[in-house]
Amino acid sequence: MNTMTSSTNSKTHRGEVYQRATEILELNDRGHYTVPTHGLYPFQWNWDSCLVAIGQQQLDESRAWTELNTLFDHQWDDGMVPHIIFHEHDDGYFPGPNVWGTGRRVPTTGITQPAVAGFAAALLYERATDKSLASNQARALLTRIDRWHEWFYRCRDPQNTGLVAVIHPWETGRDNSVDWDKALAAVPTADLQPYQRRDLEHADASHRPTMAQYDGYISLVQHFRSLAWNNEVLHDASPFQMVDPGFNAILIRSCSDIATLATQLGEMDIASRNRERAAAGLLAMESLWSDSHQQYVCFDRVAGQLVDSSSVAGLLATFADIPEQRMQKLALRIETLAASANYLVPSHDLADERYDGTRYWRGPVWLIINYMIANGLKRGGYDAIVESIEKDSLKLIDESGFAEYYDPMTGEPCGGSTFTWTAAMVMEFIKKPG
Ligand code: GLC
Repeated sequence: MNTMTSSTNSKTHRGEVYQRATEILELNDRGHYTVPTHGLYPFQWNWDSCLVAIGQQQLDESRAWTELNTLFDHQWDDGMVPHIIFHEHDDGYFPGPNVWGTGRRVPTTGITQPAVAGFAAALLYERATDKSLASNQARALLTRIDRWHEWFYRCRDPQNTGLVAVIHPWETGRDNSVDWDKALAAVPTADLQPYQRRDLEHADASHRPTMAQYDGYISLVQHFRSLAWNNEVLHDASPFQMVDPGFNAILIRSCSDIATLATQLGEMDIASRNRERAAAGLLAMESLWSDSHQQYVCFDRVAGQLVDSSSVAGLLATFADIPEQRMQKLALRIETLAASANYLVPSHDLADERYDGTRYWRGPVWLIINYMIANGLKRGGYDAIVESIEKDSLKLIDESGFAEYYDPMTGEPCGGSTFTWTAAMVMEFIKKPG
């Protein structure tokens, strides 16, 4: 037996990795919220917090509920939950509060992020050992999460298609994916006010989005700001309206998970509303299936067509209760990717010439994505692939530390380091060693 492998897999080694992960969570803990990493991301991010709360629960249940509560304390009156909450002043980040100009007492951005909160709250409740704390916390959160879901379908699916659109690439959390290239290039930039990026002071430029992409991102922000962040008009007024299968799968999963939670807590109206949202979403997901890519793809609502790009968004659909025959096809896609990449799951297909192994969401592996895909496949009984995904994830940690993301061929650590959600996912993969 290879001694390296056996020592890497030993219980002691796993215990050390787990311990290191908990230290990162503590390092980035700001008391009532957690920053993704210091320097590059000094505030609270929406889906980061929800995924981090899952890991935090293993250490301190009450702290995990606080993470979600802090996020929802900044929910807008219309129901939206913002993508960043600027709890403290920090000059090192662009675009900061002045660029967004949302006018909130504690400043926030004006866009949202993937709706992981419902999934996270239901999971915290299910695993809670302090059931009375969990019931109180879950009941209070349930209403707020339901309002967020209501906002999504009202403001981002005005035609009642069953699927919501994002109006800015950053809402998907997959900021510079190949999926947006064409649509982002069509965003008018003639009125763009001058701006200064700050991300390149913290990370390698070859790992980050290009200047042209940044022009598109900031033009959208300036346009929405000129419309006073009024969500009644933003969707239709946006030159960027994208239906993302991963984003919708997460929302659908959250709807069905809070439907279950609401039933357990006797909140029958919330349960039935969310069950209906999930059912309509699942039916509509079929419209995003691409026979040529053998996976789900994005739909560009402005151009009125499917996007020719096989990104990991389509594979994230495993997170929702998609039909068995679709789940099988996605499992096959992941097996194919495993044959071309050294580490699962690349965020873009390596066979596509637009793939880039170190640039952010155009190829690299992200552990949160691995976690959600593995979670969905596990429910479908695809244990062998789940095992490969978990094994590759932990191998990346062993070889490259707790990075923001990794090159799927070399395993090179990219972006920020001592990254909170990476650490939280490692804790989930390992589970508290006994
Ligand atoms: C980047 C990621 C986004 C994440 C944020 C904080 O912007 O693309 O998904 O929420 O960093 O970690």
